[in-house]
Amino acid sequence: MSEFKRAIANSELDEGSILAVRINGERIALYKIAGEVYGTSEMCSHSDCSLEDFGKVVENDQVECICHGARFRIKTGEVTRLPAEVPLKTYSVKIDNDEVWVRVPDPAKT
Ligand code: FES
Repeated sequence: MSEFKRAIANSELDEGSILAVRINGERIALYKIAGEVYGTSEMCSHSDCSLEDFGKVVENDQVECICHGARFRIKTGEVTRLPAEVPLKTYSVKIDNDEVWVRVPDPAKT
């Protein structure tokens, strides 16, 4: 079971930037690309570097973790460059009334 939770005001996230939020105990990285907001797990799947601190958006649709150079497609979480081999978890995101909402599992039901 999961539900949308308010994360941030849309204005808090700049185009091309990465912002970490914690909702229901999950660390989620939010990205704004061409005005749309996307969410992935905030920790790189290779060796747990923070993507807020060590990630950068590249080629308009990927996040690169500068710890060891892995890349992931932001919309799908798929690995696009080693050394990471495990995709990032992705989250459904919606913008409503200029606020960003993220669908997260209900901690009481997981
Ligand atoms: S921790 Fe991200 S590439 Fe190694």
